[in-house]
Amino acid sequence: MNIIEVKDYQAMSEKASLYVIDKVREAPFINLGLATGGTPIGLYKLLVEDYRKNHTSYKNVTTFNLDEYVGLSGNHPNSYRYFMNEKLFNHIGIKKINTFIPNGAADDILNECNMYEQLINQKGGIDLQILGIGSNGHIGFNEPGTKFDSRTHIVDLAPSTREANARFFNTPNEVPTKAITMGISTIMKSKEILLLISGESKSDALHRLLHDGVCESFPASVLKNHPKVTIIADEAALRKKLTLTSCC
Ligand code: PGA
Repeated sequence: MNIIEVKDYQAMSEKASLYVIDKVREAPFINLGLATGGTPIGLYKLLVEDYRKNHTSYKNVTTFNLDEYVGLSGNHPNSYRYFMNEKLFNHIGIKKINTFIPNGAADDILNECNMYEQLINQKGGIDLQILGIGSNGHIGFNEPGTKFDSRTHIVDLAPSTREANARFFNTPNEVPTKAITMGISTIMKSKEILLLISGESKSDALHRLLHDGVCESFPASVLKNHPKVTIIADEAALRKKLTLTSCC
């Protein structure tokens, strides 16, 4: 894993945006894997700014998002489809039909998971996957204990994940209890991964990622087995404050 240290959230976002823009210019038909949550918002803002100023073309880009809440349709303001449209897709000239996110409102969620996995494979797989990390080490919504060979599947969200995401909802009870997520093996099949980590609340997770072994109780640890991972982490995340016990 290659680590790039930066000062703060803004610097992380800038570095990440330059990284992504270079890739999109080099490979206009790139398949990008995208993430939601607080971490990539700054990156998306800068991609939009670059599109306005420099007209980087997304017309041949295809995207796959990591996850979606079960029970929320794409026009629900808390759905990840809505988030992606608002933060990025509506502003960069990408064709919406080339932007894929699991449908959390599908009648048959199991079928939706299988179709999503197949679709990623049919389109040639993900070239560059953007990832955040949960303070419990989750990647996508793969919570601790998820099998490393998992494909796109339904998950029960960990209480700590629902608590962390409650800030985006009117009340904590509104946070869905289930989600569809790419599996760990789906993520690991990406040709390249860019992991963004910012803030003190992620410092334990980053420390474990860098110093502990690889085990399913800390999902992000699997990234050590991937041949091409770049981490962009800010000073606050890199400041060690280990309160969790090591597991492996
Ligand atoms: P965050 O979430 O970007 O909102 O901190 C990251 C994650 O849970 O993967």
